[in-house]
Amino acid sequence: MKKKLSIAIDGPAAAGKSTVAKIIAEHYSYIYIDTGAMYRALTYKALQEDIDLHDEEKVANVLSRLNIELHPTVDGQIVMVNDENVTEIIRSNEVTNNVSIVAMHSQVREEMLKRQRQFATEGGVVMDGRDIGTHVLPDAEVKIFLKASVEERANRRHQENQKKGYSSDFEQLKQEIANRDKLDSEREIAPLKKAEDAIEIDTTALSILDVVKKIEDYIVERL
Ligand code: CDP
Ligand code: CDP
Repeated sequence: MKKKLSIAIDGPAAAGKSTVAKIIAEHYSYIYIDTGAMYRALTYKALQEDIDLHDEEKVANVLSRLNIELHPTVDGQIVMVNDENVTEIIRSNEVTNNVSIVAMHSQVREEMLKRQRQFATEGGVVMDGRDIGTHVLPDAEVKIFLKASVEERANRRHQENQKKGYSSDFEQLKQEIANRDKLDSEREIAPLKKAEDAIEIDTTALSILDVVKKIEDYIVERL
C-alpha cells in the first residue's frame, strides 16, 4: 500500500489554497482540513458574544467552550460549531475583517495547533492555512506555498461575489486583503511565511488545473 502523506498548503487569502487542496484531497482520497474555517468559527462566536477581540483571555475562553467540527461532503466542507451549521455565516465580511485579530493570540494558536494536529495523526491529509508547513505539520512530506498578486487575488474574490449576486467593490476588497496580509505576516506567533522546505508557486497567471498539476507532479516525486 502506498504511504499516506501529509500535505501542507499555505499562502495568503485567495491564493487558491482551498480550491486546489480540495481537488488534491479528492484525487488521493485524503481528508481535507481548512484551518482558516476554525479561526473563522471562533471569530463568529466571539463577535456573537460581543467581547473585545483584542482581549486574549476572553477570546481563549470562548474557544474553550467550542466544539468545532469539519465534515467533508460531496458539496464541500460543512463547518459545525456546538451543533450549529456555520458554513455560510463564517464567510461574512464581518468575520473576514476581524479574523486576523483573533488569530494573533498565542493561547488561541496553541489550542488550534493541538486540535489541528489531532486531525492529522494518521497522515492522508491535505491541510491549508497560514502556518501549516512552519508550525502545525513541520514534518509534512509535501509543503506548498501559494502566492499571487494582490490585484489578482482581489479580482478572484470580486468575481466570486459577483457570481453569488453580492455587492462588491474591487478597491475595497484589495484594501481588505492587503490589511489581512499585513496582520497575518507581521504577527509575532506563527506568522504567514513560506517554510524553508516548501515549494513556492505563483498562481497569478495560472489556472486551477495548472496549479493542481504542478503540485501532483511534486507529490509523485515525493512518493
Ligand atoms: O479563505 P481565506 O484565505 O480568505 O482565509 P482563511 O484561510 O479562511 O483564513 C482566515 C484567517 O484565519 C486568516 O486571514 C488568518 O488570520 C487566520 N488563519 C491563521 O492565522 N492560521 C491558519 N492556519 C489559518 C487561518
Ligand atoms: O483558499 P484561498 O483563500 O487561498 O483561495 P480559494 O478560495 O481557493 O480561491 C479563490 C478564488 O480564486 C476561487 O474562486 C478560485 O476558483 C479562484 N482561483 C483561480 O481563479 N485561479 C487559481 N489558480 C486559483 C483559484
